[in-house]
Amino acid sequence: MTDRSTTSAIRLVRLDPTGSDRGALLLFLTTEDFPFHVRRTISTADAERAIDGGAYRDDDHDTFWLEHDELGRIGIARLEDLSDPVPLFDLRIAGSHRGHGLGVPALLALTDHVFRTMPEVTRFEGQTRDDNTAMRRVFADAGWVKEAHYREGWPVAGGSPRASVGYGILRRDWETGTTTPVPWDDSP
Ligand SMILES: CC(C)(COP(=O)(O)OP(=O)(O)OC[C@H]1O[C@@H](n2cnc3c(N)ncnc32)[C@H](O)[C@@H]1OP(=O)(O)O)[C@@H](O)C(=O)NCCC(=O)NCCS
Repeated sequence: MTDRSTTSAIRLVRLDPTGSDRGALLLFLTTEDFPFHVRRTISTADAERAIDGGAYRDDDHDTFWLEHDELGRIGIARLEDLSDPVPLFDLRIAGSHRGHGLGVPALLALTDHVFRTMPEVTRFEGQTRDDNTAMRRVFADAGWVKEAHYREGWPVAGGSPRASVGYGILRRDWETGTTTPVPWDDSP
């Protein structure tokens, strides 16, 4: 388990998706490969449509560059469902920076941001595909708890659906550094 009090080398820099950051965001989305997302690659037309439609910043969404102290910009984190009491996120580290231990500090920085800047948020959620081992390890190492396993809940283009695995973290666990378990054995 990662020491959650460790100061992260990664900070979030809010980006302006339809203004000064539009070009860099488009480049990132359309040149990277995301093997565990519903869409592995994103066309320029689809990325433009999503950006201009508010998918990266509107009432429900906000997006940040992940800036590493030494490596510079290593990826993006997007918050979703911001008008609900329980936000979700999408984390995308650039391919050249994957597998180097940056996932946990990135998720810790994002979790800190949500709980520090959104006082009304008492829990924060994320989902990933069941075979996204790196992301599932990141969730566990960052103190998040598996709360759901939706069998065949993740569509796969040209293949059989995979399971979608849901994780969450409570504000009170984030504050105290503890982990509240899910009561799985609670059949009446
Ligand atoms: C998923 C992602 C955030 C993980 O971050 P990362 O920096 O690449 O992962 P890390 O190097 O921190 O590795 C985390 C753990 O996964 C393991 N791991 C890393 N890459 C792996 C791989 N390809 N296969 C299996 N395990 C892997 C590491 O050994 C480490 O294990 P440990 O906890 O036992 O030490 C990053 O790879 C990414 O952005 N991928 C593309 C987008 C994506 O899938 N996002 C998730 C959407 S929610």
